[in-house]
Amino acid sequence: MKKTIFYAAVIIAITNCCTVFAQASKKSADAIDIKVNALLAKMTLEEKVGQLNQYTSDKDATGPVSKSSNKLEEIKQGRLGSMLNVRGAADTRIVQETAMQSRLKIPLLFGLDVIHGYRVTFPIPLAEAASWDLEAMELSARVAAREASASGIHWTFAPMVDISRDPRWGRIMEGAGEDPYLGSLIAKARIHGFQGKGLGNLDAVMACAKHFAAYGAALAGRDYNSVDMSDRLLWEVYLPPFKAALDAGAATFMNSFNDLNGIPATGNSYLQRDILKDKWNFKGFVVSDWGSIGEMVAHGYAKDSYEAARLALTAGSDMDMESRSYIGNLTKLVKDKKVSIALIDDAVKRILRKKYELGLFDDPYRFSDVEREKKELNSPENRQAAREVAKKSIVLLKNDNQVLPLSKNLKTIAVIGPLAKSNTDMKGFWSVDWDNDKLVSLYEGIENKLGNTKLLYAKGCEISDSTQTGFSEAVAIAKQADVVIVAVGEAFNMSGEAKSRSNIHIPGVQEELIKVLQATGKPVVVLVMAGRPLIFNWTADHVPSILYTWWLGSEAGNAMADVLFGDYNPAGKLPISFPRSEGQIPVFYSSKSTGRPSMNDKDIVYKSAYLDLPNSPKFAFGHGLSYTSFKYSDLKLSKNKISQKEALTATFTLTNTGKYAGEEVAQLYLQDMVASVTRPVKELKDFRKIMLAAGESKTITFIIDKEKLSFYDQKMKWGAEAGDFNLMIGTASNNILLSSKFELID
Ligand code: GLC
Repeated sequence: MKKTIFYAAVIIAITNCCTVFAQASKKSADAIDIKVNALLAKMTLEEKVGQLNQYTSDKDATGPVSKSSNKLEEIKQGRLGSMLNVRGAADTRIVQETAMQSRLKIPLLFGLDVIHGYRVTFPIPLAEAASWDLEAMELSARVAAREASASGIHWTFAPMVDISRDPRWGRIMEGAGEDPYLGSLIAKARIHGFQGKGLGNLDAVMACAKHFAAYGAALAGRDYNSVDMSDRLLWEVYLPPFKAALDAGAATFMNSFNDLNGIPATGNSYLQRDILKDKWNFKGFVVSDWGSIGEMVAHGYAKDSYEAARLALTAGSDMDMESRSYIGNLTKLVKDKKVSIALIDDAVKRILRKKYELGLFDDPYRFSDVEREKKELNSPENRQAAREVAKKSIVLLKNDNQVLPLSKNLKTIAVIGPLAKSNTDMKGFWSVDWDNDKLVSLYEGIENKLGNTKLLYAKGCEISDSTQTGFSEAVAIAKQADVVIVAVGEAFNMSGEAKSRSNIHIPGVQEELIKVLQATGKPVVVLVMAGRPLIFNWTADHVPSILYTWWLGSEAGNAMADVLFGDYNPAGKLPISFPRSEGQIPVFYSSKSTGRPSMNDKDIVYKSAYLDLPNSPKFAFGHGLSYTSFKYSDLKLSKNKISQKEALTATFTLTNTGKYAGEEVAQLYLQDMVASVTRPVKELKDFRKIMLAAGESKTITFIIDKEKLSFYDQKMKWGAEAGDFNLMIGTASNNILLSSKFELID
């Protein structure tokens, strides 16, 4: 009896706390609204339009700079609400001081692309996604926010949450891969990382979910290209990470360059008003992507910038990044009664509200503190965090004959390849450029790790050109070594924005270099450094040990050495399928069965298959090995039949059957066997990343409820339908180790 009273008291106390908290946050929101409305009432139309205008600094433009003007003068006149690409406590303070000379002293917002770290560079987002470690990704964003906010930045244009299934698209490096379930969880983790305990905290920056929407589905993988898709695909695959970001409290959204089903995103009221601001009740603001408002003229959707400004504001674009369409036309549009002042006021209030929430009206310089900046940037703790996240991002693709991990007592190691000594390329695209001497190369990481081992080095060839004159030197040192480590891949600026490629084979003659090194008969370990899935079929078929190390950031070399020499047992899993050929793209695991499913690589007669290539990817979504091995056993379902109101649990045992402690990402996939629309052959619906000591076993439980069985039916209504389901648990999407069936009844 006493226990019941105690628990009841606890529940009441918790409920009261939540109520008090909710009341407090509502009270502060109301207080801010009162201030916003009071300020708005003082503003002229020109000053209101000024708040919707954002310019880049000329120093670090991240897009085509249209024309420069006297920006400081314009700031003084109240013609700007925000600047991007101004960074540093000192520089932001100077620019903010200028804003304080304007009539109403409205502080500027400083935005920057803090995509994977600020001063300390973390692995590129696609690499971090390979860790399947949500805490690690939140930590990465947290450190980035701490550093950026110490350097005058209020707002990062991240996370990029675009799903993509086309590695020809260079920006695939910036997202979380092909899957909406994994992508949604990662979006949430990154938003929490950037915004921390909430805006107003000195180490919190506004996040920005981008690019809204479906930018990752650019036709032919060509950046900025059109996107055309069914509402079902949009809602089932491309929107979920944005909804997850919104639910996680994303302060802002950024729209995208592409047109979607014929309407440019920045002029697309279905996206920005119907979905984002109405259905999802988004209270933050939308910034256009660089020039996207003005680009509606090039799209052939607006006659001129006057029309573009009207279309964009009407469609829900609140702030105009760099196109000067708003500052150049909105005042006239209001006077011409083409745009209502109510729309302008709504956009201005959304922006002012964030400036209040950040505390900028209390102290416009609170983020521009030189002393704090000195302490926070590039601290040993931040670098250690980057090393931890980098290790977790590495994927062991192959390890035949257990060549890895290498002994630390080898006599001689040959380190070869155009990326072996590169510092610059470790930062990846979208790094906030800083002196490259803070980026640890692979060679330096190995040097830091080993004591007496003799290291030999040869570049062997360049990344992209066809010269093979360096091969002989590389072969010569390989012959002197006990092991040959080869670092190949892309330069840091070969994936990223406006970096689409029709050929995504490892560039140049790097695979030829691997061939001649393999021919020496020495044990060869290949590390591939890239921003996207590359194609390297010969290497994949002939080299026994391959690590995919992406671009790992400041601590790249140390993290790679930790894995190479067994101080960290790799546990990364691919967040994206690796094609065998560009001709296979898009290839992704959650494909449809079709009416003529090909059951294996030989089953091609009158089947949905290629004559010249297997349907399967070279490496599958969810693939990644470990230095140890795992056994999946004893699958038990709590029920084989559930109603819409019930849930079932799937329980199984995971055992580490090898000699190293290690982590495994056990994945749960479900298939709806028959439904009112065709459904994918499998969809990721849960996963667990579990650490197990050698010989240790753990029982793992997945809960399956109606939400995990739901989809959009023929009328686009979200729900689950009665019928049979396949339940699959495995170590990769193409490596299912336990399976069962259950039925959903009405
Ligand atoms: C770029 C990118 C966007 C970035 C913005 C500001 O063109 O598309 O992701 O945040 O401009 O640099």
